[in-house]
Amino acid sequence: MPSEPQPLGALKPRAEGRSLRAEIHLGRLARNVRRVEGLVQGRGILAVVKANAYGHGAVRVARALEEAGVAGLCVSTLEEALELREGGLEGPVLVLGGLRPDALPLAHQHGLSVALVGPEHLAELAEAVPRWPVPLHLKLDTGMGRLGILPGELGECMDGLRALAPWLQGVMGHFATADDQDQGFAHRQRAAFHLALASLSAAGLTFRQVHHANSDACLRGFLDGDTHVRPGLALFGLTNLPEGRSLGLEPVLELLAEVYRVKGVPAGTAVGYGRTFVAPHPLQIATLGCGYADGYRRELGNRASVGFRGAAYPVVGRVSMDYLTVALPLEVPIRPGDPVTLLSPEPEAPNSVERIAQMLGTLPYEVTCGLHRRMVRVFSR
Ligand SMILES: Cc1ncc(COP(=O)(O)O)c(C=O)c1O
Repeated sequence: MPSEPQPLGALKPRAEGRSLRAEIHLGRLARNVRRVEGLVQGRGILAVVKANAYGHGAVRVARALEEAGVAGLCVSTLEEALELREGGLEGPVLVLGGLRPDALPLAHQHGLSVALVGPEHLAELAEAVPRWPVPLHLKLDTGMGRLGILPGELGECMDGLRALAPWLQGVMGHFATADDQDQGFAHRQRAAFHLALASLSAAGLTFRQVHHANSDACLRGFLDGDTHVRPGLALFGLTNLPEGRSLGLEPVLELLAEVYRVKGVPAGTAVGYGRTFVAPHPLQIATLGCGYADGYRRELGNRASVGFRGAAYPVVGRVSMDYLTVALPLEVPIRPGDPVTLLSPEPEAPNSVERIAQMLGTLPYEVTCGLHRRMVRVFSR
């Protein structure tokens, strides 16, 4: 017998006694919504809050997004959608990854919308959806190559789609290369989307919501004909593109740790596992209660810096599971309890999410999504 799945969120982070916190600036989030709204000229925003709102804290972020007037929320899985409902969010929620038919009773009960992600689901949905009605969004694979019905498969799917017509609320695609310098493939995806919409329309299938654009596509204006957009990253003030920085997006997340211990050490003192840092001269080592178990990656040891009172200081030695160590000159007045910035909300800071992502050879998404749920998140206006 398989064991009962454990409830998500069984571990409740508590602010008392923890020296590490992610500060989530909801005022910045709301201003980013305004900026994206301006960019997409009145199209509805279906804000992507999957993966715990890219690590920012799903329920509180979703509530702030709803207050800022977004048209709906997108998540990846049933659990993420239910977390929003349990958190009191009542607006439209679209499950981007689709759902198996055995999940439809729950989806119906909680008023979730569901993506239809492949031809193989048509028959099972035709059976289940009349009993457990949910709004469906037809996902087209216009070039991403993961989920969705290929334009070439549409002909053979038309009967199945027509059977689902009363529940087909939306149609969507997803860009693979909206951040590329070369915009050729993105244009081809748009063209494939329009062609597919034309053949669906010729078969009598029209949709109230049409959406293909992620953040980068919003920034680059790949929007013609769409009624809605699906940005995630830009709402969190992060971007892969210079256009995003010129739009003035404000990073929403700041990661702070209070100093646990400070010690002055003589030259020759080794710090941390593997003794990979040896003090070249007398200095102070500040130990912070943040490690790779919190999502601060081990590769950042001996590479990244942190911010303290306007200056940057190096992370020295290996990052361990729960701690990291920072070297400061002896004259810097730093004491236990002082806050140190691990991820800065200033885009140009050496420890901004974007700079840390570059250092790791990855994208901002991976840095914030990796922040563990055990971490306390503090929400401010
Ligand atoms: C289907 C889908 N739509 C929209 C988004 C939002 O993308 P971004 O965060 O780049 O705006 C994602 C994110 O991965 C996605 O998977």
